[in-house]
Amino acid sequence: MSGLWTVLLFLGCVCLPALSHGALVISRDASTPQGSDGATRLLKKRSTDNAELEVYSVKVDCKVASRFAHTVITSSALNKAKSSQEVFFEVDLPKTAFITNFSMEIEGQTYTGEVKEKEKAKKQYQKAVSTGQTAGLVKASGRKMEKFTVSVNIAANSNVTFILTHEELLQRKLGQYEIMTRVKPKQLVQHFEIVADIYEPQGIAFLEAYGTFISNELLPLVEKTVTDKKAHISFCPTLDQQRKCPGCDGTLIDGDFFIKYDVNRAEIIGDIQIVNGYFVHFFAPPDLPRVPKNVVFVIDRSGSMSGIKLEQTKQAMLTILNDLAEDDYFGIVLFDSSISTWKESLTKATKENVSEAQKFIQRIIDYGTTNINDAVMKAVDMIMKGKRDKNVPERSVSMVILMTDGMPNSGESSVPQIQENVLLAMGGNMTLFCLGFGDDVDYSFLDVMSRQNKGLARRIYEGSDATVQLQGFYEEVASPLLSEVDLRYPDNLVNSLTTSHYKQLFNGSEIVVAGRLTDYSLDNFLVEVFAQGFEEDFIVKGQASAQEWDILYPEQEYIFGDYTERLWAYLTIQELLSKRETGNAEEKGNATAQALEMSLQYSFVTPLTSMVVTKPETDEGPEGPLIADKLTEDERQKAQRFGNYGPQLMSNAWTHSRTSPINFVDGDPHFMIELPEQEDALCFNIDDKPGTIFNLVRDQLAGILVNGQTIGDKKGAPDGKVNTYFGRFGIVHQGLGVRLEVTTHDITVSQDGKQAKLFWSDTASLKGANMDLQVTKDSSLTVTLRDSVRFVVILHKVWKQHPYHQDYLGFYTLDSHLLSPSVHGLLGQFYHGVQFEVRDMRPGEVPEKPDATMLVKGQELTVTRGWQRDFRWDVKNGENIPCWFIHSNGNGLIDGNHTDYIMSGLFMTV
Ligand SMILES: *[C@@H]1O[C@H](CO)[C@@H](O)[C@H](O)[C@H]1NC(C)=O
Ligand SMILES: *[C@@H]1O[C@H](CO)[C@@H](O)[C@H](O)[C@H]1NC(C)=O
Ligand SMILES: *[C@@H]1O[C@H](CO)[C@@H](O)[C@H](O)[C@H]1NC(C)=O
Ligand SMILES: *[C@@H]1O[C@H](CO)[C@@H](O)[C@H](O)[C@H]1NC(C)=O
Ligand SMILES: *[C@@H]1O[C@H](CO)[C@@H](O)[C@H](O)[C@H]1NC(C)=O
Ligand SMILES: *[C@@H]1O[C@H](CO)[C@@H](O)[C@H](O)[C@H]1NC(C)=O
Ligand SMILES: *[C@@H]1O[C@H](CO)[C@@H](O)[C@H](O)[C@H]1NC(C)=O
Repeated sequence: MSGLWTVLLFLGCVCLPALSHGALVISRDASTPQGSDGATRLLKKRSTDNAELEVYSVKVDCKVASRFAHTVITSSALNKAKSSQEVFFEVDLPKTAFITNFSMEIEGQTYTGEVKEKEKAKKQYQKAVSTGQTAGLVKASGRKMEKFTVSVNIAANSNVTFILTHEELLQRKLGQYEIMTRVKPKQLVQHFEIVADIYEPQGIAFLEAYGTFISNELLPLVEKTVTDKKAHISFCPTLDQQRKCPGCDGTLIDGDFFIKYDVNRAEIIGDIQIVNGYFVHFFAPPDLPRVPKNVVFVIDRSGSMSGIKLEQTKQAMLTILNDLAEDDYFGIVLFDSSISTWKESLTKATKENVSEAQKFIQRIIDYGTTNINDAVMKAVDMIMKGKRDKNVPERSVSMVILMTDGMPNSGESSVPQIQENVLLAMGGNMTLFCLGFGDDVDYSFLDVMSRQNKGLARRIYEGSDATVQLQGFYEEVASPLLSEVDLRYPDNLVNSLTTSHYKQLFNGSEIVVAGRLTDYSLDNFLVEVFAQGFEEDFIVKGQASAQEWDILYPEQEYIFGDYTERLWAYLTIQELLSKRETGNAEEKGNATAQALEMSLQYSFVTPLTSMVVTKPETDEGPEGPLIADKLTEDERQKAQRFGNYGPQLMSNAWTHSRTSPINFVDGDPHFMIELPEQEDALCFNIDDKPGTIFNLVRDQLAGILVNGQTIGDKKGAPDGKVNTYFGRFGIVHQGLGVRLEVTTHDITVSQDGKQAKLFWSDTASLKGANMDLQVTKDSSLTVTLRDSVRFVVILHKVWKQHPYHQDYLGFYTLDSHLLSPSVHGLLGQFYHGVQFEVRDMRPGEVPEKPDATMLVKGQELTVTRGWQRDFRWDVKNGENIPCWFIHSNGNGLIDGNHTDYIMSGLFMTV
């Protein structure tokens, strides 16, 4: 819902020397001593300050015509190294924006992206996708953005220019539009500029521009010129102005640049523009009184909310209750596996009642599982009863605000069934808003359910500002001005209209409707708006007339003439994408087909399309294309859960995880089998004596073997338990003649009789034609074997003086789908998925961990809901992944008995 755009610029390099076939080449972190280990050649230092890549130009150019923002980001760099190197280009853009164009200029040649159907692109470039040659991808980034990354190999002493374009409709929130640009050039840039040109026909009411990174000395460099309808903003610090201190190389530019503004609202009907056969209507009438509201807060107090989340919710609720207007009516429903209410019926928000409710809020304690269905039903009942008994004002707006951090797992727990129940019960008579707290929440469920009931879902991120986020959301919906807003245009003159009925209009927001005119030469028509306001109906009529931009503003190239059409296309696609999730099967099919067609026609990278860019050929022959996708809500959630703070070299992980499951073993040792298709995961532990060697992956056809040997604690923990962990892995690729031994101390690579050693204490990479190893100092090793597999080994460093624990390793499969169907082993047997069904969920020993019955591989097992940690992105703390835990060493899930996987040697197959 945020009207903002954001850009992060980062040009960096991993300095990999040009490669010759079959050779092992090592590059090292400059900070490590340059000891030579005989068999390896130390070719060059890895540069950490990008000194060999000069970014000489960064330009962000944003043009806004009537809230429609068109942003072009251009960045150029010169490879000053004596050899070719891989250059990365990263941009953060708002998740509400669509990429519309991308191109690279390399050695006089331009490589331009083409928007293609996502599925087709995937198939067409299967090989490129599977071998990890695609480097262009989009990941979730922070709360409001997604990150676009590409990398390309640039020859010595040549230039590269990247140009990325994205578009979006800025949304008014709390009375303003916001444009946010994230800039992190990481070095001084000869030519740096951010320029924005805004044209708003209604006139600009106020405009501010500032950067959160800009120290006071740079502030005067932000120039803005605002005339009645136009604004020009620029920020162009020179090289010297960018410097952290005179003579030093550090840059001051690192942070966010904001432009915030609002427009005048002289006409109560709003602003209607007809341009080139399309019209757009912006509706946000000024000075309306608020309409009283009936609101029921439905608050999750289940066990998972315990601690900080519940505290923050309570804090937020105390403020929110305070902000209720006296003529509002409210109710509070608390739920876990059971439901309780503060008062049975809606209560007028008088000072006394509010302060009583606040006391009630303070007493909430966490407890039990999550029964969302009954809780929402209770809230609906309260509102319906309030209305029936004429207890609440007749002209009032009714809403339910649900706050939860979990998935329904008590009472009705089938997601479609809950959605159906809620839709039926609300019956269009009230709006549902859902606040999903944290990363474990089933956000898609909430998103769909709130949209089905004319509201919206918002994600609340865990963090110290969660209270502020909750209050901020409430503030947006706190003041309804109108309800049942119906915007009407002449039927016979307009088609392909976007949504024109809104349940309510809130203070500080804006309704936007766009459509296509059937008569291209039409230059005026009648617009009517009907709604229910405070105490009386709201009816306005107005005449819209066409505007000839070319004639009015011939010199203003930035008022791009087709913006109404693109704005209409943008809105229409957003609505179709939403319908894909909320409609019935036929509507979904139709919406998908239409959204795809329009995405292709208007060249928008949406969740249905991909941007495909052909890369230049390298010494090694043609490379696979770059493929950039837009994240779907599910993918975003996954990415959110894992975070994006993983090392750069792991940036390919996400393209792969979508096509193949990520299976891993880590900890003492717990195995995790992720099943993206079922959107779920399975986990189990294997306990045996220290020193046991287990087979993890074995594919005879592909010639791949991975074994792992366990180590124990130095001595038993105080509770007497000796945990085991993996301490040594053996990896063999027969075809490539590669053999790797990874211990907690070092990594030994053997190929064709040559041997090389890498140490965990160095950041280093070792790249050959068939193999790529990358070590991130003391944390991870990524192994890519050409046309076959990609693994990551995580090193867990334990404090040396720890009384009983010692260093250990985790093993993660990033890409395995090229392995043969006969791949086996403790992890390998799940690489091609596994079918299972879970039923009969029931309370387990611990309230948050219910038991259930699982049907898998023809057996019925009792399993327990729990979570295990994935350390790929956060080696210290890990990320919790919910999974079904299979007891007794995975018995029943794994083929055979776990002892069947014990091997006689690290490189043995028996
Ligand atoms: C995309 O960018 C390329 C290179 O800058 C340009 O030639 C092309 O016209 C652009 N395409 C669109 C649809 O704007
Ligand atoms: C790279 O671009 C800069 C700036 O346009 C230009 O001065 C320089 O000659 C170019 N260098 C090469 C090697 O093309
Ligand atoms: C709407 O918000 C503006 C400020 O954004 C405020 O001045 C005005 O009083 C609000 N109106 C109502 C009815 O709450
Ligand atoms: C709320 O407060 C008002 C006055 O303080 C009182 O008349 C009313 O009964 C209270 N309770 C409800 C349920 O409205
Ligand atoms: C919604 O309100 C209408 C009009 O008040 C009423 O006829 C209808 O039964 C209500 N829907 C439900 C599901 O209660
Ligand atoms: C779906 O599209 C078909 C063919 O265009 C049309 O006949 C049908 O009415 C559409 N269905 C819905 C639910 O829009
Ligand atoms: C697995 O095999 C071992 C050794 O053969 C045996 O002791 C154990 O009972 C077996 N476990 C199961 C669950 O079958």
